[in-house]
Amino acid sequence: MSDHTRRSTGWQLEQNAPEAYERYLVPPIFASWADRLVETGDIGEGNRVLDVGCGTGIVARRVATRVGASGYVVGLDSNQGMLAVAKETAAGNQQTLEWRQGDAEALPFADGDFDIVCSQQSVQFFDEPTAALEEMQRVLTPGGRVALSVWRPLEYHPAYVVLAEALEHHIGANAGEMMRSPFPDWDGQDLRTLLQGAGFDDVLVTIEIDSVRYPSVEAFVRREAASSPLAEPIAAVDQAVRHELVQAVADALSEYSDDEGVVSPMESYVITADRS
Ligand SMILES: C[S@@+](CC[C@H](N)C(=O)[O-])C[C@H]1O[C@@H](n2cnc3c(N)ncnc32)[C@H](O)[C@@H]1O
Repeated sequence: MSDHTRRSTGWQLEQNAPEAYERYLVPPIFASWADRLVETGDIGEGNRVLDVGCGTGIVARRVATRVGASGYVVGLDSNQGMLAVAKETAAGNQQTLEWRQGDAEALPFADGDFDIVCSQQSVQFFDEPTAALEEMQRVLTPGGRVALSVWRPLEYHPAYVVLAEALEHHIGANAGEMMRSPFPDWDGQDLRTLLQGAGFDDVLVTIEIDSVRYPSVEAFVRREAASSPLAEPIAAVDQAVRHELVQAVADALSEYSDDEGVVSPMESYVITADRS
């Protein structure tokens, strides 16, 4: 067990997953990936941009600073709780930002409404990714562009391999499955085929590599749990079981633990493509 884990004083679970997501997962993970996506998407002054599956709005906020007062950004998500946090977090920057509840597979916009459509770490959660990509194509202006990112498979994220296995063992099969769901078993060619099948041209798939760091293994497990649908199944087990879970993750991640906590590689496909 690491010192960080031994110093544990118990485990207070967050009740509000969208707020926990914005507080615990956006700064160490999604913020830097959002910068990368905005850069790759070549978003500029005056662009009309849609962020599909915007969550608590990190990409839309970054885009807003790029498009300026002459452009605008719409963040769309199906989850009202995520949108409520998005609105609150972006308060003061509302003039170019609009938030809409809706389904990626039936976008509530007219044909050609946007210059660029972004989507960060959301396509893997859509029931029908092809239908969503076709919708993105429809709302793009001729010559418009999509900029997407989706995680590489689980095996490229050692901390999450360990967490998924420990969840499966200590909490249950569904918890393990939930932790694996952000990391589908796809490769670059699968994604190229998906985009081409939805009618996009000039598909460019790149592999980007970064890392995530948490101050302790306990913080890693607790923050991931609090910020996701795992909060409920983990809250349902005894405190002793939660301690065993943290212990198992700490033991398995000893090679990724250091004086600053725990660190793990994270890898994503970042994709751009043009409307045909
Ligand atoms: C992992 S979060 C990513 C959020 C955000 N893009 C970010 O980078 O922080 C995935 C988001 O996709 C949203 N989502 C899942 N299915 C959706 C759908 N069919 N239509 C719209 N949003 C959806 C979820 O509600 C969630 O907010």
